[in-house]
Amino acid sequence: MTAEPTLYGLIDDLEKYLEYQRDEGVQRVEVDRAVLEELAREPTEEKAEEVTVEAAPIPADFESLEQIAEHVLRCRSCPLCQERIHAVPGEGNGDAPDILFVGEGPGADEDQLGRPFVGKAGQLLDKMIEAMGYKREQVFIANIVKCRPLNNRKPLPEEMEMCMPYLHQQIRLIRPKVIVGLGGTAMEGLLGNKVSITRMRGIWQEYQGIRLMPTFHPSYLLRDPSKKKEAWLDLKMVLAELGKEPPPRK
Ligand code: URA
Repeated sequence: MTAEPTLYGLIDDLEKYLEYQRDEGVQRVEVDRAVLEELAREPTEEKAEEVTVEAAPIPADFESLEQIAEHVLRCRSCPLCQERIHAVPGEGNGDAPDILFVGEGPGADEDQLGRPFVGKAGQLLDKMIEAMGYKREQVFIANIVKCRPLNNRKPLPEEMEMCMPYLHQQIRLIRPKVIVGLGGTAMEGLLGNKVSITRMRGIWQEYQGIRLMPTFHPSYLLRDPSKKKEAWLDLKMVLAELGKEPPPRK
C-alpha cells in the first residue's frame, strides 16, 4: 500500500530529478520563483530524533532479515542517522523472490513512514511491478542507504560504502533470482563505481553472481515519461530472464 505523497516528498523527487539532469550533463534549467521559495523553506513537520554517530562496524554475519532490520533501525554508523525520522530497512518477499528492486535511499515520505518507495516514485514503482505481473508483496524492495540523506541530496560515496554491508547481507539472505537497479546511484552503490544510467540501462550486469538489470529510477520517469518505453524494455528483459511474459494489459 502506498501513501499520498507529501509536499516534502515532491520536493525530494524534484531534487533527485535535477541531480540526474546534472549527472547527464544538463547545465541550465528554468525554475519558477515559487518553486525556489518552497525549496528554501525549512521543514517544520516532525523533528528527527537526536542521536550521535558511533561509527561501529556493521556485523558481517546476520542470520535473518529481521536481525538486519533491527540493526538498521538502531544504526548510528554514519551521520545520516542524525537526520532521520525513521530508518528504512526494506520490505517484501524475503524468500527467494523473482525480483529484488534496489533504489537509492529513502525520501521524505519513506523517512516519515519507515517504508521504502511509498511516495510518488513508489506509486510508479508499484505500477511497474504490476505491469510485470507481480504484486508488491511478491518482490523485495530495498535501498542502497537506509536513512534519508540530508536535504535529499544524493548519498555520498562514503555513506553508500558504510551502508552497503546491510544490502549485501540482505541479498545473501533473500537470494533473489534477479536484481533491478533503479537509477545511477543504485547502480553506483552496487557496482562500487560511477556509472551513466543512460548508457548502462538495459545491459545485464552481475552482483554476487546474481543477474542485475540497470534501469531508470521511477522519480526520473515521473519527470521524463518519454523514458518509460526504455524502462519497459529493461523490465521485459528481466521477465524473459525469469522465463515469463508480461500479462495482457487491462
Ligand atoms: N527513492 C528511492 O531511491 N528509494 C525510496 O525508497 C524512495 C524513493
